[in-house]
Amino acid sequence: MSMYKAFASPVRIVSGEGSIQEVPSIVESFEAKRIMVFADPGVVEAGIVQKLEDQLAGAGLEYKIYSELVPEPALEVGNKALQTLRDFNADFVIGIGGGSSLDIAKAVAVLSKNDGNVEDYLNLTGQKELKEKGIPKVLIPTTSGTGAEVTDISVFSLEDTKDAITNVKLLADAAVVDPELTYTLPPHITASTGVDALTHAVESFVSVNATPLTEALAFDAIQRISANIRTAVWNGKDIQARQNMAWGSMVAGLSFYNAGVGGVHALAYPLGGLFKIPHGVSNAALLPYIFDHIWPSSIDKMARMAQALDVNTEHLNKREAAIAAVNELKNIVDEVGIPSTLDQFGIEEKDIETLAQNAIKQTRLLAPSPKPYTLDDIRGRYKAAFHGEFKYI
Ligand SMILES: [Fe+2]
Repeated sequence: MSMYKAFASPVRIVSGEGSIQEVPSIVESFEAKRIMVFADPGVVEAGIVQKLEDQLAGAGLEYKIYSELVPEPALEVGNKALQTLRDFNADFVIGIGGGSSLDIAKAVAVLSKNDGNVEDYLNLTGQKELKEKGIPKVLIPTTSGTGAEVTDISVFSLEDTKDAITNVKLLADAAVVDPELTYTLPPHITASTGVDALTHAVESFVSVNATPLTEALAFDAIQRISANIRTAVWNGKDIQARQNMAWGSMVAGLSFYNAGVGGVHALAYPLGGLFKIPHGVSNAALLPYIFDHIWPSSIDKMARMAQALDVNTEHLNKREAAIAAVNELKNIVDEVGIPSTLDQFGIEEKDIETLAQNAIKQTRLLAPSPKPYTLDDIRGRYKAAFHGEFKYI
């Protein structure tokens, strides 16, 4: 691997209220004729996909909607979507929905022109290499959370953990971030996806692979998300809060895609795999406990994080400010209404060993952590999150 830093992103990012209107011109720029839309069933039901359909139909474009998708999808969900796309002989893919829908859309758009199935290309266990670029794709998020619209990561649930396809070919040709699509998101989804976005921002901010560019994006995301997440959750009609969350989530996505995440995501993956806890919720339940552990490795950055979190640091030294930042992360999770200990998810203490054995395998996620993890550290973090115990706050 090169020692130099690179920054990658979708070719185009279109954002702002009403930006879904740009989709037809993007489709037309690829001269696409057979469009397949991968849509979250909940988003179809909520009438949000209709906004996309209106745009496509208004431009005289023909399309087919596929919505046999679920959150935290298993391999079979991806393979069925892939087969449908191949059978339809599509020349363009649109993904619309939460992270899972976008993940499947980007994966199948590429896999449709490569041999084999989803499992052949997984990071941990796959044996094949993607040779073909696949067909063009546009990704449209309907939550402010995963950042999936700007990354090349496609995550799947296995029996007891998760694995992902990550390849630059999966990057969208265009991401369309229209905050209007998030205005009706219910509080609990606004909360869990919003904390996921905050986690992307704070983990990438302290990542060993951070650059001035990713740090600037992460700092902006931490500011916007921390200042707006409570309002967006409890008063979803506040348009300014929704717009800040949409922008914050997208730039947090750009930051973590390039700088990586860390221990929160690594320990959250087995919670999603084993206990089917939604990604954002499992991140939220771990976030303060991980930062309670890693802050001494990154005191300067944690003190700056305190400023981004709008913590009053006037009479605090850097060490105190760093700890105050950890405390504020805990406050946010508590105040958006997410359970703050693992025992509230039906997890038992005896499960910690299995969780830890799985988490230590998530090397892609653990590598950017500013404080390296031993297996014992990981056990300790699950225990802390189970009992609600902190070392410093
Ligand atoms: Fe995430």
